[in-house]
Amino acid sequence: MISADIDTVPKTALDNTDSSAPTDFAVLANKLTRRFGNFTAVDHIDLAVKPGEIFGFLGANGAGKTTAIRMFCGLLKPSGGEAWVHGLSIKKKAEVIKRKIGYMSQKFSLYNDLTIYENLEFYGGIYGLKKSEIKERSKELLDNMGLQEYRNKLTSALPLGFKQRLALGSAMFHRPSILFLDEPTSGVDPVARRIFWEMIYELSENGTTVFVTTHYMDEAEYCDRVSIMVKGRIAAMDSPAELKKKWNGANMQEVFLKVVET
Ligand SMILES: Nc1ncnc2c1ncn2[C@@H]1O[C@H](COP(=O)(O)OP(=O)(O)O)[C@@H](O)[C@H]1O
Ligand SMILES: [Mg+2]
Repeated sequence: MISADIDTVPKTALDNTDSSAPTDFAVLANKLTRRFGNFTAVDHIDLAVKPGEIFGFLGANGAGKTTAIRMFCGLLKPSGGEAWVHGLSIKKKAEVIKRKIGYMSQKFSLYNDLTIYENLEFYGGIYGLKKSEIKERSKELLDNMGLQEYRNKLTSALPLGFKQRLALGSAMFHRPSILFLDEPTSGVDPVARRIFWEMIYELSENGTTVFVTTHYMDEAEYCDRVSIMVKGRIAAMDSPAELKKKWNGANMQEVFLKVVET
């Protein structure tokens, strides 16, 4: 893990609105905005995420987290502003971005009537891997996820915590250098969440950037840096330690409530 400092972002990087953005950042957003009719879901957000960082994206329901993530993944066009993922413009290079990143959506995309192994096989096929590569990578992922002994079980029969691990495995089949995880641990028990976060740590230690949304404030503490989104805007952004100092909160739950109330 690394601890990153937003102050190190060069002003010119944020002012740059063409597609030749610097590639030093895994994610860079400049006044990124998305409107749906008259409603602004994401309102001029600026952020810079460093490679290898675990970046937590916090906010209440409806704050705009999913909308922002979908723009970073090249799945939704912005109404204004710009953002780059590894220097690639989300406006101009959406197709390239989609192939490069890993994305675990809030309602993760698993086929319930396929087995665990068949789901992985399916994702390997999407990424255009050869049969032998799919076999090898699936085995590796099943081992890493602790799912090897369940490989022939139907996905529909799995507990939610297992499905989440499988969804993570599917999202990283092609070894992306950045993972976007949208509320990956929603609804599971503390033990399953702990296992999931151990996997995130391991990925980060191996250099993968993890951009993760959550509304569990204990999970916010595990991030290198977090941003707190309120009604489409970023109301606070820093390391959990700095935020606790600045907002005089004993934990991230207190910080979150103070930020939201302000
Ligand atoms: N396709 C859409 N059309 C209209 N409104 C939308 C659409 N997608 C999201 N919204 C609205 O944008 C706001 C932010 O939603 P979302 O990004 O899903 O928030 P979060 O993920 O933080 O819960 C919500 O009020 C939601 O109703
Ligand atoms: Mg959401």
